[in-house]
Amino acid sequence: MTPAAKAPKETGVTTIVLSLGGSVLIPSLESNELAGYAAVLAGLAERHRCFVVVGGGGEARRFIGVGRDLGIDEATLDEIGILVTRLNARLLVAALGDAAYPGVPETYAAAKACGVAGRVVVMGGVAPGQTTDAVAAVLAEEVGADLLINATSVPGVFTADPKKDPAAVRHGTMTPGELLALVAGERMGAGSNTVIDLVAAKIVERSGIPMVVLDGRRPETVRDAILTGVFEGTVIAKAACRPLPL
Ligand code: UTP
Repeated sequence: MTPAAKAPKETGVTTIVLSLGGSVLIPSLESNELAGYAAVLAGLAERHRCFVVVGGGGEARRFIGVGRDLGIDEATLDEIGILVTRLNARLLVAALGDAAYPGVPETYAAAKACGVAGRVVVMGGVAPGQTTDAVAAVLAEEVGADLLINATSVPGVFTADPKKDPAAVRHGTMTPGELLALVAGERMGAGSNTVIDLVAAKIVERSGIPMVVLDGRRPETVRDAILTGVFEGTVIAKAACRPLPL
């Protein structure tokens, strides 16, 4: 039997994986950016193959906090966090309506199989010991993404947490190795809050897929970055490379 040939890439179709922090999509259940992101993503999906990995945000941390007070182990707390990310993903799928694949894939293979131009695929967490940043990085590798975007609540990767240290300076560009060195020293428990997790940094380094980290609190920031290439944030890439606009 002849092995199946690798499917050719659809010409002109760019593949984007967006890691969308729960804290930017749903800062609180009452005040959220679901409608705004649904509109932006539906527009982007008309021109690009779009995959979105949604985080758990403050709600996940609240559930994890309650569980930790009960003495529950970290792996189980991670499982609880994953359930919240999938719940947030389900809300975004509902907000996208016909512009989304009508479900939340729980594996990379399932997500890849659902991804076609014109229909956004939305997923949440996959396995304990990481965050949805790592899920997005692995998914980017599996679907052969042209770009990984990390939309978070700070405008890029800083020398220190800018919410705590006023002297923190933003990196305009970094190599994946420099990102890895920066995050390697940070501790990770369930619900931890670092800009990028270590697993994600390792995957980004081995895949070589360019990553952009930007402030996603306004959905229009993500849209404008993709369409115009103008944004405030950090580009992580091996060589001098300008991954945007697409
Ligand atoms: P998030 O990806 O939301 O973490 O996952 P985060 O970095 O706090 O992101 P924001 O605030 O949404 O931007 C929430 C928690 O779910 C568990 C971890 O405990 C994580 O801290 N989780 C998530 C996993 O264990 N595995 C996954 O694949 C995803």
